[in-house]
Amino acid sequence: MKQRVLTTRADLLGGSLARLASQAEVVGWTGTGKPDPADLAVLARDVSAILALGNDRVDAALLDAAGPTLRVVALASMGYDAVDRDAAAERGVVVTHTPGVLAETTADLTFALILMARRRLGAARDSLAAGQWDLFRMDDYLGLDVHGATLGVIGYGQIGRAVARRAQGFGMRLLHHDPSAPDDTLSKSVDLPTLLAEADIISLHVPLTPQTRHLIGAAELAAMKPTATLVSTSRGGVVDENALTRALRDGVIHSAGLDVFEREPMGRDLSPLVGEPHVVTLPHIGSATEATRAAMVDLAVDNIRDVLAGGPARTPLPGSSATPGARR
Ligand code: DGY
Repeated sequence: MKQRVLTTRADLLGGSLARLASQAEVVGWTGTGKPDPADLAVLARDVSAILALGNDRVDAALLDAAGPTLRVVALASMGYDAVDRDAAAERGVVVTHTPGVLAETTADLTFALILMARRRLGAARDSLAAGQWDLFRMDDYLGLDVHGATLGVIGYGQIGRAVARRAQGFGMRLLHHDPSAPDDTLSKSVDLPTLLAEADIISLHVPLTPQTRHLIGAAELAAMKPTATLVSTSRGGVVDENALTRALRDGVIHSAGLDVFEREPMGRDLSPLVGEPHVVTLPHIGSATEATRAAMVDLAVDNIRDVLAGGPARTPLPGSSATPGARR
């Protein structure tokens, strides 16, 4: 009998689902919108694998709904903050994610945010579209330069490095803060206070963990230059949004570019940061190109196929097992 695999969305890109279907019975959430945990629990019964997105909550309740047949949860995402890793380890379930396939695409978007926020591109575009462009004025939409600025990268992993490579082309000076990343040819490793004080643009690339939650709060914002731009394509919870809103309103920093928020998705209940002057906001689209989203699904499917075939997963979460184990 074929093993069963649950996918939490029907709209997964790429041809991988067909590959999966040749090996397993794929049961998918087919409703519109985000599936309710109760609906997923019903679908999850007796599955061997779950293919989920980065913001689908994978907790003990879902793992238990699947039961002892479950061997792997494959995320089509780099971030894994919505997964209860301990609960998975206790049940001997491998959890995988998608490093390697989305760094360049996310770095591209990071640079788009830097340029938009610093050069006030969103406000300028909106004014033109609203029919307000009646005269060339020397002081319209004055921004701050990106070329030659100092870029501070917090979290110098694959995406942080890809951002640093792009910054070279802009003639930027590079600093990074990451306890596991020494100086390299692109960037100098510094402590957080030095980075906050010296960077003109600060870009966040750390995963969301208990240690990084609200890593950037009122004190850190106050330590930045008044001309600083804060950019985040990592996870919303890394920034204290209330503190950031106050800092922007009080002129503590110049601007912000955000692709991620503490509460996602927002629907009509918008964060106060949306619409704030000097803030550019996007709906979590850092990895959203056709090729990259398909590559993320492909890698998730590869991880499932490998584990179900009895082998190790290709890209287990850092520090966790690549093969299913016994329940503890
Ligand atoms: C990721 O891969 O972590 C992106 O944020 C999409 O979930």
